[in-house]
Amino acid sequence: MKETVLVTGGAGYIGSHTAVELINAGFDVVIADNLSNSDLQAVEGVRRITGREIPFEQVDCCDREAFKRLFERYEFRSAIHFAASKAVGESVEQPLKYYRNNLTSFLNLVELMRDFHRPNILFSSSCTVYGEPDKQPVTEQTPRKPATSPYGNTKQMCEDILRDSIAAIPEMRGIALRYFNPIGAHPSALIGELPRGVPQNLLPYVTQTAAGIRECLSIFGDDYPTPDGTCIRDYIDVVDLARAHVAALHRMLEKRGTERYEVFNVGTGRGVSVLELVKGFEKANNLKINYRIAPRRAGDIVAIWADPSLANRELGWHAERTLEETLHAAWEWQCHLDRREK
Ligand code: NAD
Ligand code: UD1
Repeated sequence: MKETVLVTGGAGYIGSHTAVELINAGFDVVIADNLSNSDLQAVEGVRRITGREIPFEQVDCCDREAFKRLFERYEFRSAIHFAASKAVGESVEQPLKYYRNNLTSFLNLVELMRDFHRPNILFSSSCTVYGEPDKQPVTEQTPRKPATSPYGNTKQMCEDILRDSIAAIPEMRGIALRYFNPIGAHPSALIGELPRGVPQNLLPYVTQTAAGIRECLSIFGDDYPTPDGTCIRDYIDVVDLARAHVAALHRMLEKRGTERYEVFNVGTGRGVSVLELVKGFEKANNLKINYRIAPRRAGDIVAIWADPSLANRELGWHAERTLEETLHAAWEWQCHLDRREK
């Protein structure tokens, strides 16, 4: 019989790509999502790519009773928890929304996993837990810095909740994957990122500028202490990121590793500046982006990129897609969205 995996937040950007890769790897998937930041079309996209009728449950993970019924209905040993609110700026304005949603949903998940003896939890964490690192690239040993936003704080708190719960529940295993900057879309252009309103993140702003939805991209600062003056990030293709979840899941199911709670960086190991990303996008898609240099954005860190060697070695996972492929897929997805609108 196939192994089933619960994917909370599976209608979202990273969750939908992960659902595809799980099915490609031979797992069955149950998607649970309250659609607060997503659309059923993503689930349809996953079904079309995989040719499978994937069960979808519209459930709010904060609603413990509704969430519990899902545990009663489905047999799974593992859960991947993507369900969370994720906008850094909004979390500063509405901290209680973030603490309520991200903590309650996660506490419910961990408690239900314990009560129903479902042993494996994979948690979506973020490189935001490192803050502005003193040294590059960051390894899993790089100290976490005090969070600079309520969103970041929920990631640190959930990591700690998972670590402490696993220490107290001998049958449980958990992995926190610290994502760097996920970008791109599935090569089929059937699923991708769905930014609501004006995009806050760089690449969706770039693709919308290329599509004529936005007039001009603002590059936030060109006077940083970096080679071209713009900030540096580690942009990880969302399909590569999705595959890291499959690798981490195998590790838990096979009980590899001596620790029952582990943390892995998921990045490429390559630092790319804002200008390099914009130029790369232009080249990959043979387009010109209208941009201007704007003042620095408050709260931005100068540079961060991953040392992914632990994940490379222990999970047998590597980022494989080239930046060019990723930037091409992002543009294909934008074109698909534009066609859908018309
Ligand atoms: P997303 O918003 O596209 O996906 C999250 C999904 O969770 C959405 O479909 C949303 O409707 C759902 N959801 C939210 N609260 C819920 C609840 N209480 N019950 C049920 N469903 C709920 O975001 P994403 O980019 O796919 O991010 C997935 C996870 O990865 C999040 O935990 C996010 O914090 C984390 N993460 C994202 C990034 C990034 O840059 N995208 C970086 C680091 C970490
Ligand atoms: C931010 C969050 C991170 C979160 C991620 C995805 C912080 C410190 N980090 O990452 O926790 O996981 O979003 O939601 O808030 N930029 C422009 N013009 C734009 C948009 C962005 O120049 O219109 C620049 C930014 O200044 C930054 C880089 O592009 O240097 C990447 O920005 P963004 O995509 O927002 O990601 P982060 O800020 O790295």
